[in-house]
Amino acid sequence: MEDNELLRAARRAAERASAPYSNFPVGAAVEATNGRVYLGCNIESASYGLTICAERVAIFAAVADGAVPAKLAVSCLRGDRSDATSLTPCGACRQIMLDQMEPDAPVWIDGVGQFTVIGLLPLGFRLPHT
Ligand code: THU
Repeated sequence: MEDNELLRAARRAAERASAPYSNFPVGAAVEATNGRVYLGCNIESASYGLTICAERVAIFAAVADGAVPAKLAVSCLRGDRSDATSLTPCGACRQIMLDQMEPDAPVWIDGVGQFTVIGLLPLGFRLPHT
C-alpha cells in the first residue's frame, strides 16, 4: 500500500470515531506485515477516562488478529478535509507503538510529516528481556 493510501485509510477511519464529548475525531490505519490494513478510531466513554485513542484501537485490532503492525498512519482530518488542526500521538499511544512495532517502523501523521516509532519516543520504556 502506498504511504498516502494508508493516510487516506486513516482519514476514513476518523469518520467512524465515537467522540461526542471532545468532538475531536481521530482515525488510524495500521499496515501489518501480512499486507492487511487495520483501522482504528477514538472511542469515548461517558466515564471519560475510559476513552481509547484511535492509534491504540488500530494497533490492538492488528495484534488481536494475529498480525504484526509494520506501519501506522494517523489523522484527525475527516474525509478529505484539510482545514482542521493536526495532532501528534499522545504518550500512551507512543508507548504501545514501541511495544508492538519495530523501533524504525514508519509513522505518518497527517499534515505533520513522517516519523519513526523510536523518533516519537526516544528512550522509551522496554523490559530488558524483550
Ligand atoms: N486522541 C486520539 O485518538 N489519539 C491521540 O493520539 C490523542 C487523542 C483522542 C482521544 C479523545 O477521544 C480525543 O482525541 C480528544 O482528546
